[in-house]
Amino acid sequence: MFPRKGASGEEVLEELERKTEEDLTFDSGRILGSMCTYPHPLAVEVVRRYIDRNLGDPGLHVGSQRVEKEAVDMLSNLLGLERGYGHIVSGGTEANILAVRAFRNLADVEKPELILPESAHFSFLKASEMLGVKLVWAKLKEDYSVDVRDVESKITDRTIGIVGIAGTTGLGVVDDIPSLSDLAIEHGLPLHVDAAFGGFVIPFAKELGYDIPDFDFRLKGVKSITIDPHKMGMVPIPAGGIIFREKKYLEAISILAPYLAGGRIWQATITGTRPGASALAVWAMIKHLGFEGYKEVVREAMELSRWFAGELKKIPGVYLIREPVLNIVSFGSERLEELEERLKNRGWGISAHRGYVRIVMMPHVKREHLEEFLRDLGEIAAGLNP
Ligand SMILES: Cc1ncc(COP(=O)(O)O)c(C=O)c1O
Repeated sequence: MFPRKGASGEEVLEELERKTEEDLTFDSGRILGSMCTYPHPLAVEVVRRYIDRNLGDPGLHVGSQRVEKEAVDMLSNLLGLERGYGHIVSGGTEANILAVRAFRNLADVEKPELILPESAHFSFLKASEMLGVKLVWAKLKEDYSVDVRDVESKITDRTIGIVGIAGTTGLGVVDDIPSLSDLAIEHGLPLHVDAAFGGFVIPFAKELGYDIPDFDFRLKGVKSITIDPHKMGMVPIPAGGIIFREKKYLEAISILAPYLAGGRIWQATITGTRPGASALAVWAMIKHLGFEGYKEVVREAMELSRWFAGELKKIPGVYLIREPVLNIVSFGSERLEELEERLKNRGWGISAHRGYVRIVMMPHVKREHLEEFLRDLGEIAAGLNP
């Protein structure tokens, strides 16, 4: 019921505290299956200070607009481009929708089709429904990366583009983006790379010596990349990123906004009014941590993943789905549903994904949390097996 009379701020906050008591929090160390994390304190402070900035009306907040551009430039740079075109958006979903929109608008074909791996994130289902683009699914190989030959066999006159994934949602697998890029060039098609998760992991992991395929704009067929600062970038939600190689993609999705207080502008994002604070927080985090800072975050997460995968193998009744590529480790079990249920009953925030449980080594996940989890998992698995 909409209250007729207001309550004091103190009362409201107390009630909220009670109502959210059951929420799991990232700093408890119990959330092991999320790609989000407790944001970095500097980013939280930036959001607090600049909470009123609206990049939907950038004529009013020209300084913030400039900062967003710089954030996009730094992300482009991380992804191998000197200058990119894009925005800080609400998340990977919006970023993927914008890429599909750009490909569709530029292709101008009837009954457009997009080819994507079976491992693609469900945001593409939303894009498909909203944009009238048919999804054509390409098979996965045994290692769970997309089968590039199957992608090729699905190209038709109606194809508007190809999607590859750098860090799949369930397993953190990186597709063979170099081959997809060659294929895209050969057929004159744009390639979109969904690096919503991997974008803030792979560049650093590669420098640390991990053997991961190239995935970014250094490959000429790659025309757009999704990269989410609100995942491994440690920026508060909402902060996604879409970067295009060329201006024409952004122009293809720009709509004239005629009435804004700051003047007429062309708007490419799905959201109109949108948080400038998010873009400022992305900028601040990149400036604060720099490449070396993020590299250390990724080093810890990758090392923890390898250790955790090794420990999982010692538990009877559960098995690794595949060796980890990034900082995601997924395991299965003959008795998965019961296992999952019992882990949840013990207060673990885990994510079940198409027949396996996914553990994501986000910055808030520490070895002691995982040791406790492994103890619980071992006990439960032993209880389930005859
Ligand atoms: C590969 C990938 N793409 C896109 C998304 C969607 O991101 P968001 O939830 O920020 O919209 C996710 C989310 O987990 C993802 O893993």
